Amino acid sequence: MDSSLILIHNLLRWILLPIMLFVLYRSYSGWLGNKSYEKVDKATGGALVGLAHLQLLLGLVIYFAVSPWFDLLKSDFGAVMSDSVSRMRAIEHPLTMIIAIVLIQIGRSFSKKKDNDQAKFKTVAIYTTIALLLILSRQINWGLPT
Ligand code: HEM
Repeated sequence: MDSSLILIHNLLRWILLPIMLFVLYRSYSGWLGNKSYEKVDKATGGALVGLAHLQLLLGLVIYFAVSPWFDLLKSDFGAVMSDSVSRMRAIEHPLTMIIAIVLIQIGRSFSKKKDNDQAKFKTVAIYTTIALLLILSRQINWGLPT
């Protein structure tokens, strides 16, 4: 159960990242090419937020109930912080991913309030680009769980 949660969390990224790239592609081409915001944009934007929330939920469960990092942080904060591998797992990855997911959510919520399609695309494009850069900057393992 524990290791399957980590496996699902690992693999879900390969669904989330392509959808994120697709949303970005549609947003930039819609914004810069003056296209109209279509059903597919609404659907993929919703799917991206939903998957990001699922990844957040899994990450929180892994963080507090499966992985040792939260306990280690409480028992020896200094040791965790002084080692780059454990600092990444205990602080940098979780915190950066939470910020990225909040940005994805904000981008979508703000875009819904815009009254023209270019403004919708622009809002999603900017927030999602920052979120993608944050996600790529703090990935733990580019392969399968070891
Ligand atoms: C877009 C969001 C996220 C992505 C793409 C992502 C991706 C990953 C990946 C690929 C791993 C490596 C799993 C492995 O093979 O060992 C991982 C591990 C982990 N993630 Fe995430 N994650 C995300 C969000 C989160 C969040 C929000 C949290 C916590 C609040 C979190 C907590 C963790 C923890 C605790 C581990 C296990 C670290 C370890 O024990 O080595 N993740 N994540």
